[in-house]
Amino acid sequence: MARINENYLKLQAGYLFPEIARRVNAFCEIHPDAAVIKMGIGDVTQPLCQAVVKAMHDAVDEMAVKETFRGYGPEQGYGFLRDAIARNDYQDRGIDISADEIFVSDGSKCDSGNLLDIFGDDNVIAVLDPVYPVYVDTNVMAGHTGTANEQGRYGRLVYMPVTAETNFEPAIPSEHVDLIYLCYPNNPTGTVTSHEMLEKWVSYAKEHQSIIFYDAAYEAFISEDNVPRSIFEIEGARDVAIELRSFSKTAGFTGTRCAFTVIPKSLSGTTKDGRVQPIHALWNRRHCTKFNGVSYPVQRGAAAAYSDEGKQQIAQLIAFYMNNARLLREGLTAAGFQVFGGVNAPYVWLKTPGETSSWDFFDQLLEQSHIVGTPGSGFGAAGEGYFRLSAFNSLENTETAIERIQKSVAANVEI
Ligand code: MLT
Repeated sequence: MARINENYLKLQAGYLFPEIARRVNAFCEIHPDAAVIKMGIGDVTQPLCQAVVKAMHDAVDEMAVKETFRGYGPEQGYGFLRDAIARNDYQDRGIDISADEIFVSDGSKCDSGNLLDIFGDDNVIAVLDPVYPVYVDTNVMAGHTGTANEQGRYGRLVYMPVTAETNFEPAIPSEHVDLIYLCYPNNPTGTVTSHEMLEKWVSYAKEHQSIIFYDAAYEAFISEDNVPRSIFEIEGARDVAIELRSFSKTAGFTGTRCAFTVIPKSLSGTTKDGRVQPIHALWNRRHCTKFNGVSYPVQRGAAAAYSDEGKQQIAQLIAFYMNNARLLREGLTAAGFQVFGGVNAPYVWLKTPGETSSWDFFDQLLEQSHIVGTPGSGFGAAGEGYFRLSAFNSLENTETAIERIQKSVAANVEI
């Protein structure tokens, strides 16, 4: 009989979001009339902006005519999109990244997992805790971890707790690690880091010859001037970091699919016997072998996000979600919750009342207020006692959710 990859058997429960969906479906079966407001998964709710839609329509029209039809595109992405990304996201901000260091893909989730293909199995891996579950689960699948303990922490991974007590900044590891996952603005806590902190990470990575996977999928939601938008703002980061970015949340592409990963040509790893190997060439090899590129109409749509019209329309989309985030922050604070995030990210991270566990709070919120959020403990042991609400929703739903929560608190009912 064919053997399976037994690492999958080490994975705990389901992936967090399907598990939430399972619980919500069970609730809705028993309460079919409940008007449930979903603030769990961070999935956009507003339609694509007009500039993007028009570019995609035009591209489909091109595909319908013999003279302009296109077959396979370049696996790394079309030049028009890579140029637009390099110029707008990096060069115009004084950051030294060139178009051929950008690999267009169908998602940062996929890229963060796929990147493991080109790294060895004996690397020591560090993650924040709470953490976007994909970083951990893909390492489990690849056999880079031991089994999980009762707290859900896997052997061989280095966990760096981030909680309110340390202002959501992790301590730089005291031991040696090879691969470091950082996500800023942070999912799930909605908090950000500083240039000073990133400088420390870069200098750690230089000293230990580590590589940082820097997930900046929520960069577009940064509203404060002093917050870093890219790790490549830090001197020397080109030698130690890979950056992941996405159009999913920025331009409402969760169902459209387009993202990119930046791999500087100056980034290297080593073989077991110490030979230095550029990462860019390895990733290029992997990408060309296992990926056929993002569809032409979608890449045209993504490129339109960088037109003047596109930028303006996307700024409106972001402002829309960030107004929801503000209302959530203010409404929950007024209801007596301790609230974090939501200023430079579309996620609000709240402390559950008293000793209430994250999953108990999930159940209470669903039962009493018919609101779905994400239990902090689902993101890691250090997320226990916290809860995430997403600002990706309609204004009406956001206002209704706040009202329901405030009413529950005022009625002195457990939420
Ligand atoms: C989230 O809710 O954390 C995100 O939607 C997950 C993702 O982007 O894959």
